[in-house]
Amino acid sequence: MMAMTPGQAACCVRAPTPSSCEPRRHVAFLHRRPRRVTSTTATATSNHTIRNSREPAEMTPPEKADVLRSLDGWAETNLLPLLKPVERSWQPHDLLPDSSSPAFRDEVNELRAHAMEIPDDYYVCLVGNMVTEEALPTYHAALNSFVGNDDPSSSSSSDAWARWSRGWTAEENRHGDLLNRYLYLCGRVDLRRVEQTIHHLIAAGMHLDAGRCPYRGFIYTAFQERATAISHGNTARRAGELGDARLARICGAIAGDEKRHEAAYTRVVDELFRLTPDAAVRALEHMMRERIVMPACYMFDGTDAELFRHYAAVAERLGVYTTGDYAELVEFFVERWGVAGLGDGLAGEGRRAQEYVCRLPERVRKVEEYARRRRGQIQRVPFSWVFDREVEVQL
Ligand SMILES: [Fe+2]
Ligand SMILES: [Fe+2]
Repeated sequence: MMAMTPGQAACCVRAPTPSSCEPRRHVAFLHRRPRRVTSTTATATSNHTIRNSREPAEMTPPEKADVLRSLDGWAETNLLPLLKPVERSWQPHDLLPDSSSPAFRDEVNELRAHAMEIPDDYYVCLVGNMVTEEALPTYHAALNSFVGNDDPSSSSSSDAWARWSRGWTAEENRHGDLLNRYLYLCGRVDLRRVEQTIHHLIAAGMHLDAGRCPYRGFIYTAFQERATAISHGNTARRAGELGDARLARICGAIAGDEKRHEAAYTRVVDELFRLTPDAAVRALEHMMRERIVMPACYMFDGTDAELFRHYAAVAERLGVYTTGDYAELVEFFVERWGVAGLGDGLAGEGRRAQEYVCRLPERVRKVEEYARRRRGQIQRVPFSWVFDREVEVQL
């Protein structure tokens, strides 16, 4: 997944300690919190939400989950074909030296020789991407919480959403495995510190801010998948520029999966906008106001209280994932989901959400420009992942 890695720049966090994992707001995406009460003439409804008496109530998460359940047949036809059959899927073994082959040592030596030519800042980005992928248990749990199906882990073959959830997780599982094994073989990173970072991240969880709302959850996931496709695609491109064709293929294979997953989740949200535009645009507004926070923003290696911020700054400097990419994501999805053209299906709050979302790309670009101008001097920060060697960042 789900590296949203995203809005990497969109997120800045306090050090993830066992007792403190609240995200700190980043200046670049400091939006107001949504109002919880819509008007002084509000009235309480039976499910205890509060609304203006002339407007329809916002759909509740259980009602939205019902919409998802009603789309089981749609998911069978439109979603499941976006999973690749196991027989046609790449496996980490295909892209790494074969440990059962007599040529294994030679191939590993060649891999390590290429790795020696790659700078530390690249490895910081690659480790960050790998750590993000390795927190898959968190994402699987999150996905199952907002799909709304009753038995997502069973072996039942009748529920298309459950099958999607398991199939998607199985495809994602290869991403962390592949990067982890490559990093083990290359000899360029302090694997114990990397493993501790993964341990901390899975234990810390993630900040999704979707509640149990499937609309918000799928919007988040669509953003995440596109962001990870960008990030892995850029590490692939950069590896090619550095002359490491194997590493370029590794990152490129993962980026290809992420594009397919992006297509799937984007399609789900397409359908939600088609069926229930008011609820969909309000969910999008909520996620945009709260910001899409990277799933790995609680990463911690045991020492650097600002590890995520430092990692994101390296990714920004190398062009692996930038604030400009986040702005592109917002523009892309607002256009893709046809927010400006939503018409009759919107009530008052929906129209206000539409106006907010349609103005957002321009605002995000301005904030991005402002953040770029405010960046300080380049400084050097040690990363435990590369044996405490220093890497340049611009904070
Ligand atoms: Fe993904
Ligand atoms: Fe992934």
